[in-house]
Amino acid sequence: MTDATVIDGKAFALGLRQRVAAGAAELKAETGVVPGLAVVLVGDDPASWIYVRNKGNAATTAGMRSFDHRFGADTDQATLLSLIDRLNRDPLIHGILVQLPLPAHIDAEAVIEAIDPAKDVDGFHPINVGRLGIGLPLLAPCTPLGCLMLLRHYAGSLAGRKALVLGRSNIVGRPMAQLLLGADCTVTIAHSRTRDLIETCREADILVAAVGRPEMIRGDWIKPGAVVIDVGINRIAGAEPGKTRLVGDVHYAEAAQVAAAVTPVPGGVGPMTIACLLLNTLAAACRGAGLPPPPEARP
Ligand code: GUN
Repeated sequence: MTDATVIDGKAFALGLRQRVAAGAAELKAETGVVPGLAVVLVGDDPASWIYVRNKGNAATTAGMRSFDHRFGADTDQATLLSLIDRLNRDPLIHGILVQLPLPAHIDAEAVIEAIDPAKDVDGFHPINVGRLGIGLPLLAPCTPLGCLMLLRHYAGSLAGRKALVLGRSNIVGRPMAQLLLGADCTVTIAHSRTRDLIETCREADILVAAVGRPEMIRGDWIKPGAVVIDVGINRIAGAEPGKTRLVGDVHYAEAAQVAAAVTPVPGGVGPMTIACLLLNTLAAACRGAGLPPPPEARP
C-alpha cells in the first residue's frame, strides 16, 4: 500500500476550537458564565513559555477568560500551593493547568493533588486518573483525548481492533491505553523493556507512538493498513548546517508507504492538545453551572 491518508490534526483542531467557541458563547448567553482558564508556569524554559502563551491566546480566541501566573525557577512549593488554593476557590476559574515539568525542588505530585479535580483540565489528578481507569472519566488528559478523537474520525469503529500504545508516561501512554480500552480496543502497552517490540508493533491495527525517540518506528514495523498516531515531537539536525527540523517518533515517509492513515509532525497530534484543553475547560464550566458538558468531552 502507498499514499496513506494524512490525518490532518490542524484542520480537525480548528473545527473543534470553533465548536468550543460556539459552546462557550451559548453557555454565556444562557447563564452569564464565561469559562476561565488559569495557566501556571514555573521557571524560564523557552518551550514551556511558548506553550503557555499559546494556551492563553487560544482560550481568549474561544471567548474564554485566560489568567496567567508565572513564577521564577526558585519559587517554593508553599507559594505554589497557596496559589492553587486561591484558584480552587475563585468562581471565575473553571480550569487550572500547571505546566509540566516543574523544577526538581517542587513535588509535582503534591501540586497536582492540590488542584480541585473538577477544575483539573489536564486530567492528571489521581481522582481523574482513577475515574478514567474505572471507565467513568470526568476530565481526560488532553493529548490522548485528542488522539482518540482523530482515531474515531479517521479509523471508524475501534471496537475489537488491536491497539498498541508505545510509551507509558502519565501524560500520554497510560491514559491513552485507558481511553482505547474504553473504546473497546484490545490494548497492549509497550515500553523500553518490552521484548519482541518490532513483532508486537507489526500486529497492531492501531499504533500510538509516544516514546520521544526521533523516527524510531520504521515502515517495516507497521502492519499494512494500520492507523498510526505519532505523538512525538523531536527536534533534530536539518539538512543544512545550523538548521533543525521537527520529526515524530515514527519515520513518516516510510510509514506513509504502509499505513492506511498516519499523523504528520508537525500538524498532526500537536494542535489537538490545545483544542482539547479548551474543550475540557468548557466542560468544567458547564458542569460548574449545573449543565451537561459537550458530548465530545466525554470519551
Ligand atoms: N507538559 C507537556 N505536556 C503537557 C500537558 O499536556 N499538560 C501540562 N500541564 N504540562 C505538559
